[in-house]
Formats: sequence, structure tokens, C-alpha cells
Amino acid sequence: MRVQMREGERARSSRLADHTTPFVRSEWYVAGLSGEIGRQLTARKLLGVEVLLYRREDGTPVALRNRCPHRSFPLSHGKLEGDVVVCGYHGLAFGADGACVRIPSQALVPSAVRAQNFPVVERAPLVWIWMGDPDQADPGAIPEHPWLHAPDYTHVGGYLHVKCNYIRLHENVLDLTHFPFLHGEAVGDLAYAQAPFEVAEAGASVRITRRLEDHPVNAGYGSAIGNLGHRVNRTSESWFKTPAFHVAHATIEDLEGGVGGRAEFHFKILHMFTPETATSTHYFWASARDVAIKDEALSEASRTRAVNTFLEDVEALERIEAIWSSEPDDFHEISVTGDRAGLLMRRIIARRAAEEA
Ligand code: FES
Ligand SMILES: [Fe+2]
Repeated sequence: MRVQMREGERARSSRLADHTTPFVRSEWYVAGLSGEIGRQLTARKLLGVEVLLYRREDGTPVALRNRCPHRSFPLSHGKLEGDVVVCGYHGLAFGADGACVRIPSQALVPSAVRAQNFPVVERAPLVWIWMGDPDQADPGAIPEHPWLHAPDYTHVGGYLHVKCNYIRLHENVLDLTHFPFLHGEAVGDLAYAQAPFEVAEAGASVRITRRLEDHPVNAGYGSAIGNLGHRVNRTSESWFKTPAFHVAHATIEDLEGGVGGRAEFHFKILHMFTPETATSTHYFWASARDVAIKDEALSEASRTRAVNTFLEDVEALERIEAIWSSEPDDFHEISVTGDRAGLLMRRIIARRAAEEA
């Protein structure tokens, strides 16, 4: 049940983004994994809009609005002829740029008839989409993710559909205090949750850094590095880079001689959140490491560990979303010191959404 927001609530939410905040459209979001987009017509709702994804014959990805401009038939239920999409209702045909190239029932094809086309850029293994003003789409603004290509790293990744607003996911990955309670000590113990941290805001990004010194390595990193039982310094930097992209850097310094002549190991977790609706999110993730990069069994174990951990987050966030959806919007959550980075992130998203209004 949603109720009308009162004035005070409206003012508050305009300062701190929540599920009522309009999506930030002037941004690159992940539309899909490279492997998901092919010569088949694929439908996906992004930022509340039905989008059609496919590849041209030369392999370039295409994104069109999945809604025929004639009578709103979903183009994904039509067919692909070469690079042209043919609507399954009256047969209007659209090129990859969205321009109508054929109206079977008449000779004249007015140039104004077009399916909306969205800029897309492939940076394998990700395909990015821009759903704001196309003239503002600058591929140079796509967040860097070199660890998915660098020869000294390997990664695993995947996709989860989550029934919650994307801001809650950003909040979750900026909040390192929930580890021992929601996930257990394999991810982070109470000492980690209590370790001192720093929050830094830079432009429209926020970083939280937490350092735990001279502490036993946790099971996740220890089994990857092969230094279970060793004492380590663990530094975690979680960056909210854009409303679409968060990267967590973990650096483990082994204090007991290291492994294989090395004492420092790096792990990167990329969280890419693309709103589907106000209460659902496409969650693309990747987990990269610069240790034991040829170890397939370790990669499989790390995939399982990551998915199991993320599913714990998903279950919690879906429970929270269900409560927000079933009660009036007049509940006031309290915040604690550990929420500082999340609050800054919500302020940034609110500001960016207001700038677009
Ligand atoms: S609805 Fe697509 S051609 Fe009529
Ligand atoms: Fe978590």
C-alpha cells in the first residue's frame, strides 16, 4: 500500500533518495552481460522502460524501445530479418537505428515514424546503455573496470534479479557492519564490523575505507590465497562510483611470510545495479582476484561463495522491500554512524535526480 507523501516527507526524500526518487537517467547502466545478448530478440525492462536488445549481423549490440510506435506491440514478439526488426502485429519494420523502413499497408514511410533507439556500448563482458538525452551520451563516462580484462586477474560473475529498489542495494554494499550478522564470520567478524573507518566524498562518488590490522585471515580470502591461519592486515575500500556502479577493493597483506613469495593480494567485487522498476533491480556482479588465476576449482568455489553471500543480502533486502510495500510510507528509520557512506550516497542520488527534474 502506498499513501500520499506529506509535505515534510516530500522535503526529506528530496534530500535523501529513496524508492520514491525518480531514476537518474543521465548515466550509463549495464543493460546485460555480453553473453545474454545475441541474434535473438530479448526484452528487458530498464529504468521502468521496456527495452529490446539484440545484435546486428556484425555483432554490434542494439537497444530499441520494446514498444512499436504504431500500436505499442512489444517488438520482442516480432522477428529479426538481418538487422531489421519486424513488428509481429502489422509488420512495420525498423532498422537498428530505430528508423521505420517499411509499412506493409502503404507506400509512404514518413521519416517521423521511428522506434526509440538508445545508445549502447559493449565493454565485454558488459553491455552498457544510456537512457537519458542521447546527445549527452559520452562513452568516456562509463566506469572503468580493468580487472575484468587485465592479464594478471581472473574473475567470475553473474546476474541476480532482486525485488527491491536499487538504492537499498547501494546502501547494502556501502555498509560493512552487517557482515557478521547477516553473512557470518566467513565474510567478516565482529572485529571487522567494529574496525575504524573513513568516509570520503569526491564529487558525485563516495568511498568508505575500513582497515583491520593484524587479524586472522577470514575463510574466504584465506582459502583463495592459501594462507588460512595467517594473520593479515585487511583494507577494504567500497566505492559508490555512480548510481549504476559500485566497486569494492580488498587488499590483504600477509604478516606471516606470505605465499609463493608474495605478501599482498587483491580482490575486487563489482556491483552493477540497474533499476528495473521502483521495487526491482537487475543486479550484475563480478568478483576478480589476482591470486591463483588459473585455478578453475577455486573460481568455481569463489562463484558459489559469492552467490551464497549475495543471496543472503537479497533475501534480507526483499524482506525489507516487502515491509515498505505493505505499510504506509510514514515510517522513519534511524541511522547509526556506520550508515554515513550510505546517507551520502542517497544525498548524491537525490541531488542528481533533482538536477534532471
Ligand atoms: S503495432 Fe506494430 S505494426 Fe502495428
Ligand atoms: Fe552483504
